[in-house]
Amino acid sequence: MAFFGKNKKGEPGAAPLSGEIILPRHVGIIMDGNGRWAKKRGLPRKAGHREGAQTFRTITRYCSELGIEYLTVYAFSTENWKRPADEVGALMGLFKSYLKEALEDFKDDDIVVRFIGDKAGFSPELQELMRENEESSRHRDGMVLNIAMNYGSRDEIVRAVKRICAQVQDGRLTDADVTEQLISDNLYTAGQPDPDLIIRPSGEYRISNFMLWQSAYTEFVIMNKLWPDFTKDDLNEALRIYAQRNRRYGGV
Ligand code: FPP
Repeated sequence: MAFFGKNKKGEPGAAPLSGEIILPRHVGIIMDGNGRWAKKRGLPRKAGHREGAQTFRTITRYCSELGIEYLTVYAFSTENWKRPADEVGALMGLFKSYLKEALEDFKDDDIVVRFIGDKAGFSPELQELMRENEESSRHRDGMVLNIAMNYGSRDEIVRAVKRICAQVQDGRLTDADVTEQLISDNLYTAGQPDPDLIIRPSGEYRISNFMLWQSAYTEFVIMNKLWPDFTKDDLNEALRIYAQRNRRYGGV
């Protein structure tokens, strides 16, 4: 846990975080409400996703400016393939164009881009863009941005268990080596701190298969804003709520 002061750049439009507040090291965001945002305006769902992509860009850069060390955003779940083909197609198109821009976009902010989830589910072109983004940002030392795509936490845990079983079977590990730490070390987020705060806009009280293992002691903040309407001020509010929480990790 780190102590930080005001937002570094004091960007217009964002109420500065006043005084010294405790910032979370790792923030997770379930970017929810794109569809409802579009429906309210009589627009196709894909218009909501397009707007949501702009919010993602703004909030990611803002988190980096504030000094958040890790940001994990839920962009596409293992269950989202069940959506109508035209919506899935629109999302894939959005990811493609966004990842091309992102190569440039996050350079100035020194952001390290990582993808968590099963990349093999995507087209070769998207997989290549993911690889390029990871490769070209690997050396940077700014905020780590995990983009969860084709991510499901149950699937992540099953993969971890299979990897561990294989190592026990071939004698590299024994039962006694299987610890909580070993499981964490076999997740997509290996080596990263667990999320301190998960924000879910759109007013839904659900975890939706997001970071189940990692969120054992995470603080949740649910906000009544659809993701495309989510602003830097809303992030500041979530951070203030988090700073007031008393984290006891099962202790007293
Ligand atoms: C959930 O809202 C949102 C998604 C399934 C897609 C999230 C994707 C983006 C924000 C696009 C930008 C991401 C990147 C990485 C470029 P929903 O469609 O379930 O909304 P609803 O609950 O109102 O229907």
